[in-house]
Amino acid sequence: MRKIDVFDTTLRDGEQSAGVNLHEHEKVEIALQLERYGVDIIEAGFPASSPGELKAVREIARQVKNCSVAGLARASAADIDAAWEALREAAAPRLHIFLATSPIHMEYKLRLTPEEVLEQAVAAVRHAARHFPEIEWSAEDATRSDWDFLVRIVTAVIDAGATVINLPDTVGYTTPEEYAALFRYMRERVPNIHRVKLSAHCHDDLGMAVANTLAAIQAGVDQVEGCINGIGERAGNTALEEVAIALAIRREFYQAETRLDLSQTVRTSRLVSKLTGMVVPPNKAVVGANAFAHESGIHQDGVLKNKLTYEIIQPEMVGLASNSLVLGKHSGRHAFREKCRELGLQLSDAEFNQLFRDFKVLTEKKKEVTDDDILALAVGAVHGGETAPYELQYLHVSYNSAAVTTTTVGIRMPDGRTVQEAATGGGSVEAIYNTIERVLAEPVRLLDYRIQSTTGGQDALAEVYVKVEFRGRSSSGRGIDNDVLSASAKAYLDAINRIVWKEQADAALAGVGEN
Ligand code: KIV
Ligand code: ZN
Repeated sequence: MRKIDVFDTTLRDGEQSAGVNLHEHEKVEIALQLERYGVDIIEAGFPASSPGELKAVREIARQVKNCSVAGLARASAADIDAAWEALREAAAPRLHIFLATSPIHMEYKLRLTPEEVLEQAVAAVRHAARHFPEIEWSAEDATRSDWDFLVRIVTAVIDAGATVINLPDTVGYTTPEEYAALFRYMRERVPNIHRVKLSAHCHDDLGMAVANTLAAIQAGVDQVEGCINGIGERAGNTALEEVAIALAIRREFYQAETRLDLSQTVRTSRLVSKLTGMVVPPNKAVVGANAFAHESGIHQDGVLKNKLTYEIIQPEMVGLASNSLVLGKHSGRHAFREKCRELGLQLSDAEFNQLFRDFKVLTEKKKEVTDDDILALAVGAVHGGETAPYELQYLHVSYNSAAVTTTTVGIRMPDGRTVQEAATGGGSVEAIYNTIERVLAEPVRLLDYRIQSTTGGQDALAEVYVKVEFRGRSSSGRGIDNDVLSASAKAYLDAINRIVWKEQADAALAGVGEN
């Protein structure tokens, strides 16, 4: 079996999904779960893009020890130096440099001739080679580039020191046959290609990202790139869990495998979904809620007689079986700690105590507490030791179907005071948001609002996802509670807190940089 390296870019290309705004401690939590999942390379971010991003990449590089950590850079010395600053403490640092090679990008975006692009690429790789043991070079928009130009530039960057060559389908334009042919062409024509690993990076604009990636594997690539749950820029990136399971289920056909611990698949998917606020569609392959549900009578009958009639993936393979162990009212600290460990939650003592208190409150209202409930609570309780700038203290809603709704909220402000306000609205959620806006005394624009339940049952927790615009920035936020209105208020404040945290991180680091 050929081993395929898995390059996860959930924290870089995935974080570019509209509205995703992860806090540093959430990025670290995802990175540690990716390490547990067994990915080979974690692309932790784009260090030169902001001081906050550089700090988060540095923290991930410090904490992740069992896989390589990569940072993205444009083909410029400043970007490469920022990436080295972020990655120098990583156990296995990797630089990922990209430069566009398609005629449309070179002419309109870069305003450079092909010769200038080639020179810039070579200079960047040479500069990077002073620091980095591994240098991945990406020909942005490779699938709309001239293949012979690709041959020339790839040959040159390999000579300059690149160790991995990535040919991204940046705009999701290629087809499986064409993408495979491109890799074969490069293998045949680039004289020094044997010195590097080849990598595939696909976007899903035409719904072919996974198919294109699998075709690239058939054409001999050594590495695949993608994001958990297929999140990412526009229509998303290749869903890594789909590629890994396809290789495992069709082993004989592909004769290739990853090093992933597939039993971590669902856990990784849920963590990423909860922290990013990107809900997984129920019909999504491998990790969707319906992926293992058999609805029609004929299918149910078949599965009862022999599971293999309609089930090609065993739920245990992706880690679904362990989900059945539920905790309840009588579960103590020890059982709860065991469960947190099993769920891969890395908690400080204070975080564990907070989570245990939340769990106990929940058991008063909910008979069975599932893994999903605990993960949902954990995402709310863990703030990397930071206190939220704004915190909901109490909420009162007076709803009357024949009149306006009135709301009173109390919010703990950044200076510790609790401010109370009241306002009205056409409906309960609108009234709550009007009241919070009044407390903040600054305009907030609601861009998106979604609600779902964590599990089935009338006592299920409500999870609300919002996207807001505040102080010129937008962010998603998430709130969880037994009550949908409290969950709505929490989600709104969570989005605002994320914006305030980002502002604070950028301001603090900009200050350091000026000294
Ligand atoms: O899609 C793309 O081209 C990218 C590059 C930065 C590699 O994400
Ligand atoms: Zn991409």
